[in-house]
Amino acid sequence: MNMAPQIEKAISDVDQLIIGQAQELSDKLKQHRLEMFPPRALKGLREFQLAEVARFLGVTSGYLRNLSLEGKGPLPQVTPSGRRSYTAAQMEEMRSFLEQNARAGTHYLSHRRGNEHLQVVAVVNFKGGSGKTTSAAHLAQHLALTGHRVLAVDLDPQASLSAIHGFQPEFDVNENETLYAAIRYDDQRRPLKEIIRPTNFPNLHLVPGNLELMEFEHDTPRVLAQGKAGDYGRVFFARLDEALSSVADDYDVVIIDCPPQLGFLTMSAICGATAVLITVHPQMLDVMSMSPNFCRCSVRF
Ligand SMILES: Nc1ncnc2c1ncn2[C@@H]1O[C@H](COP(=O)(O)OP(=O)(O)OP(=O)(O)O)[C@@H](O)[C@H]1O
Ligand SMILES: [Mg+2]
Repeated sequence: MNMAPQIEKAISDVDQLIIGQAQELSDKLKQHRLEMFPPRALKGLREFQLAEVARFLGVTSGYLRNLSLEGKGPLPQVTPSGRRSYTAAQMEEMRSFLEQNARAGTHYLSHRRGNEHLQVVAVVNFKGGSGKTTSAAHLAQHLALTGHRVLAVDLDPQASLSAIHGFQPEFDVNENETLYAAIRYDDQRRPLKEIIRPTNFPNLHLVPGNLELMEFEHDTPRVLAQGKAGDYGRVFFARLDEALSSVADDYDVVIIDCPPQLGFLTMSAICGATAVLITVHPQMLDVMSMSPNFCRCSVRF
């Protein structure tokens, strides 16, 4: 279809304006990060007060204070007024120390034992802005601080979970470095282990996200239409589960932050999950929009 030259120019001008503003915003965010987290622009983690550490370890503050006075375990930083604090790494050192010196049957490490299987929690709601990412991040961080080995998976192309952990999607996450790399249909597929990154929290690893994840939403219907899904010996919704199985021995809990839509990514997460956490605003329209969507979702499976 021929477009009048004036209309073409107007569209091109708008494109340039949007590209320019996107670039400016991106540069500002990068600058902000450099200023916030010098010198390497990597997000750090604050120290924890003795009472917080005691709570995360499951001991009393008095017991922890005595250990410090007796010089046992990692020694905390002490202010002139006598306040004690530990880094997250020291807290983990203390957890190992307590485990090594624990009475028989008492455990301070929260790793799964015996037949306990990996827990996969999908944080889902098709409604945008319902608190999925915030809940996923806090849950993952709390579980990590209480000694669980946690894998957080950013399944949302918006990549807010990655941003919360200091990874800016357009700068820090390159091609084939999201979960898409581990579930894609072609021969560029990579083992999930290669994509996982450490975060500023000990025990918490992340599979970062960015816009690349949308490729899975486009590839899947094409592969299904071509009848090719069978070539790989599995259907689309089993691919995420299969990728997680390959790293299951390294983790106790997986937290998946889903996008606000019932696409192939979300359905994969629901299929691979052992639990689903639905975040919902306590308001009538939010509850009403959630209910039929989940009914439809369960009917599909
Ligand atoms: N418990 C809460 N109380 C108040 N504000 C909150 C709470 N949880 C999240 N928020 C705020 O609500 C907004 C949306 O939260 P969040 O990004 O976690 O939602 P989301 O469901 O992940 O959104 P999306 O659907 O776009 O992925 C954010 O600005 C966040 O800071
Ligand atoms: Mg979100």
